[in-house]
Amino acid sequence: MTINWTGFSKKTPSERQTLLSELLSDDKQELLTSNQQLSIETANQMAEHVLGTFSLPFSVAPDFLIDGKTYHIPMVTEEPSVVAAASFAAKLIKRSGGFTTTIHNRLMIGQVALYDIKDKKIAEQAILSHKAQLLSQADQAHPSIVKRGGGARDIWTEEKGDFLILYLSVDTQEAMGANMLNTMLEALVPTLEELTDGQSLMAILSNYATESLVTAECRVDLRFLSRDKAEAQQLAQKMELASQLAQVDPYRAATHNKGIFNGIDAIVLATGNDWRAIEAAGHSFANQSGNYRGLSTWHYDKEAQQVAGKLTMPMPIATKGGSIGLNPTVQVAHDLLGNPTAKELASIIVSVGLAQNFAALKALIGTGIQAGHMKLQAKSLLLLAGATESEVTALLPKLLQEKHRNQETAQELLMALRNNKNE
Ligand code: HMG
Repeated sequence: MTINWTGFSKKTPSERQTLLSELLSDDKQELLTSNQQLSIETANQMAEHVLGTFSLPFSVAPDFLIDGKTYHIPMVTEEPSVVAAASFAAKLIKRSGGFTTTIHNRLMIGQVALYDIKDKKIAEQAILSHKAQLLSQADQAHPSIVKRGGGARDIWTEEKGDFLILYLSVDTQEAMGANMLNTMLEALVPTLEELTDGQSLMAILSNYATESLVTAECRVDLRFLSRDKAEAQQLAQKMELASQLAQVDPYRAATHNKGIFNGIDAIVLATGNDWRAIEAAGHSFANQSGNYRGLSTWHYDKEAQQVAGKLTMPMPIATKGGSIGLNPTVQVAHDLLGNPTAKELASIIVSVGLAQNFAALKALIGTGIQAGHMKLQAKSLLLLAGATESEVTALLPKLLQEKHRNQETAQELLMALRNNKNE
């Protein structure tokens, strides 16, 4: 299906839905606008002490070309300019060949921390010589995942401080697998205590998901950095420098990665996944060398006259389980993406992170972040000042011309508009 995206940002939400009607059924479109996405009854089953539900904008960043396939990305975010930036980057990256991704592995890891052990070396030997039995015991604790083709895959141990730690890796198929892992690990505890003559402190999944790594790569032709060749080359060099800065300075790395998560969180939230787990996995991986670093890197390829970006990070994402089947709006997001598998979804999400990073860096090394971000933030300032939709339309060009684009100026402009009307 080929969609003409020209002027998409200027359309109304219902015009945008009409354009996407081949991808979203009528009932899914109605769900998005009806404000009845999550019934109070379902919400009350999902969390505790529920008072009501909470809404956020549900947007689409169109036309991501990933591994030769086109995706329109559902994004749930409250932050102005995130969706615009992702859309902008997707367009330039598509024209330069799109994203390619690699799924390195997709296993979840859990751990049992054992302590109070007289001889850790003997205990370790005892565990490793019973590996097959322990793996089969883990499978028996969760037989349904074995039927689906998944299950326990490996066991290893490490001595750390006072602890002997057992690690278990599990193929969780389409699920994120937190409950699955925790059930399996808890089932192993009595045998482990017996084998090691020690005690278990805890048995729990690890969010440091080093066995669920995904890489997304892309290239952007220099002509998209600037029409002026010399300026484009200078910007490409600055892009590489920006990447290096995030490798050597954790203050910059944190912000660099926050920019990546602007995109990642938005699609993770839209697809009903546990964004705390994804954030924990990403930030712990950023610190894997002992120094917190930027997750992505950019390189200026002089020969190809392109900048080349690469983002590798854990993406323990799910398409089944958790709140995915409970929140009906989440199904809209999966439909919009063409109901991908967990591996495909992981590739899409990491690509979105790289696109978001590209747009932020391009702005930072070019005009600066405020120009583009504040252009879109200005709408929020007017809404916060109490402007109606038609007042926002009338006041936006005026606010954008102001030197100090802040809440106070927005309020002054609104007062002036209303006073003029009353005169
Ligand atoms: P621009 O060049 O001024 O935009 O960039 P434009 O008006 O020329 O439009 C270019 C394209 O951008 C459009 O193409 C759209 O694809 C998109 P068109 O549709 O016109 O053919 N676009 C929009 N899409 C939807 N709604 C809109 C809209 N406007 C443009 N209203 C842009 C403007 C915002 C894209 C650019 O300045 C940008 O990418 N800025 C970065 C913004 C950003 O990263 N925001 C996140 C918040 S800041 C942050 O938290 C992260 C950070 O700290 C991370 C870090 O430090 O690394 C920055």
